[in-house]
Amino acid sequence: MALNILLVIVAYLLGSIPSAVWIGKRFYGIDVREHGSHNAGATNTLRTLGRRAALPVFAIDILKGFTAVMLSHLSGYAPGSDAMFNFKIMLVAAAVVGHIFPIFAGFKGGKGVATLAGAVAGVYPPAVGLCLIVFIIVLALSHYVSLSSMSAGIAFPIFIVLVFGERSASLIVFSCVIAVLLLLTHRKNIGRLIHHTESKIYLGKRKDA
Ligand code: G3P
Repeated sequence: MALNILLVIVAYLLGSIPSAVWIGKRFYGIDVREHGSHNAGATNTLRTLGRRAALPVFAIDILKGFTAVMLSHLSGYAPGSDAMFNFKIMLVAAAVVGHIFPIFAGFKGGKGVATLAGAVAGVYPPAVGLCLIVFIIVLALSHYVSLSSMSAGIAFPIFIVLVFGERSASLIVFSCVIAVLLLLTHRKNIGRLIHHTESKIYLGKRKDA
């Protein structure tokens, strides 16, 4: 029990690694939270500092989510058991809470997209692959990362039920909570999308709308 509580704390600390803030401050002398969308994430790092800064932020954010869930293998729960699944969900939650409210950056972090993608990849990898396809298609069509993130999040429970035929209540609730969480963390983006003031991202050549 004590070990599992420790693992959840470690997952929170991993999620709390503020890659965007640290890379921005250390290598560019800039806190990305004072620029662009004010979000401590890969998209705002791309917008503010460019691809060379955004790529490691994106990689670290994915990796910290995935690593947090991999801590479950130290828990002693049997692989494939309900207890293991529930524990993985706790680790996902801890990592994402850490990313959104990082102890190492004044509790002002990001929106949880990359960290969630990495963490959920440790719970249900095939669905993450399909969500990634949704993300890429919406991004290619709209150039809005926020809209792409929310679309992928909303697609997640739909894929779980309709494509993978899952009937596990805890998995369905988990996927719905993730979709709602992404909508909540993107509420300012939703406002900007409605008012046509959301910034677009062009991956080919850097250009903000
Ligand atoms: O990674 C978060 C993304 O979906 C939106 O970021 O900076 O445009 O608010 P941003």
